[in-house]
Amino acid sequence: MTAEIIDGKKLAESIKEDIKNTIAVRKAQNLPIPGLATVLVGNNPASKTYVANKIKTTAALGIRSYSYELEENTSQESLEMLISELNDNPEVQGILVQLPLPEHLSEDKVLHSISPKKDVDGIHPYNAGLLSRKYSEPLFYPCTPSGIMRMIESVCPDISGMKAAVVGRSSIVGMPTAMMLSRSNATPTICHSYTKDLDEICRESDILVAAAGSPHLIQGDWIKPGAIVIDVGINHIPDSTKPHGYRLVGDVDFDEAVKRAGAISPVPGGVGPMTIAMLMANTLKAIEYR
Ligand code: GUN
Repeated sequence: MTAEIIDGKKLAESIKEDIKNTIAVRKAQNLPIPGLATVLVGNNPASKTYVANKIKTTAALGIRSYSYELEENTSQESLEMLISELNDNPEVQGILVQLPLPEHLSEDKVLHSISPKKDVDGIHPYNAGLLSRKYSEPLFYPCTPSGIMRMIESVCPDISGMKAAVVGRSSIVGMPTAMMLSRSNATPTICHSYTKDLDEICRESDILVAAAGSPHLIQGDWIKPGAIVIDVGINHIPDSTKPHGYRLVGDVDFDEAVKRAGAISPVPGGVGPMTIAMLMANTLKAIEYR
C-alpha cells in the first residue's frame, strides 16, 4: 500500500484564495481590512526566512503589513514598549513576534505583553488556557496545530474515538495539537524525550503527529498500517549533492513510512504552508475583535 499524500501546499493555496477573495470584497465595500505586524528580533536565518514568507503572503492577500526588525541586543523593555504601541494601534489587528527570541529576552513576558485580542499566533497564555478548557473557545487557535487539524480533516473528517500520538510537547505545536485532537474527540498521547516505548505508542496510533525536531526519528515500521501521519519536523541534514550542501527532512522517515501509512504529509510542502495560511485566517478573524 502507498499512502495518499496530504498536499499542504495545495490545501493552503485554496484557504489563501478564499481569504484573498474575502478581503477584496471587503475593500470593494469599504469595510476595514486587517493589518498584521510582524516583529523579528536578531539574525536567526530560519526566522528571517519564515517572517519574509509571512510578509510576502500578507501582501499577496491584500492584508496590510507592518514589519519590525530589531537588533539582536534589543532590550526587554524596548521590545515590550513596541508591543504596547502595537496593542494600542487601531491599524494593527494582529501581532506576531517570531520565536525563538535571543536568549537574553524572556519569551514568556513578551507573549504575556501581547493583547490576547491581537494574538493571531494563538499562543498567548490566555488563549492557550481557553484552548485547554472544555466549554471555552480561545479567541484564536494556534496556527500550526490548526493547519495540522485541517490536514487531518482533509483525509478523515471525523476522528472521534481514534488513538493519536503527538511526539513533542512544545507550547506552539505539541501541547496545543494534543488539545485540539482531544476537542475533536480523538484520544491523544503526548510523547517526549522521557517517553518509554515510543515506537510501541506510535504503532498503536491511528494518527501520528511528529513534532520533535529530530530528523527521521519516526521509523517506517513504527507506523500503524493505514495511519494518518503528519510530519511537522523541519530539519536540515548535510547533503553534498545539493547546492547549499544540505537538504530539508522531516521527523519521519518518509520513504519507508509512505509504504505503510494511509495518508502522510511531506516535508517540504506539508505543514509549513498550512501554518502561514492559518496565520492569515486568524488575521482576518482579528477584525471581529477590533
Ligand atoms: N517560530 C516557529 N514557529 C513559529 C510560529 O508559529 N509562531 C511564532 N511566533 N514563532 C514561530
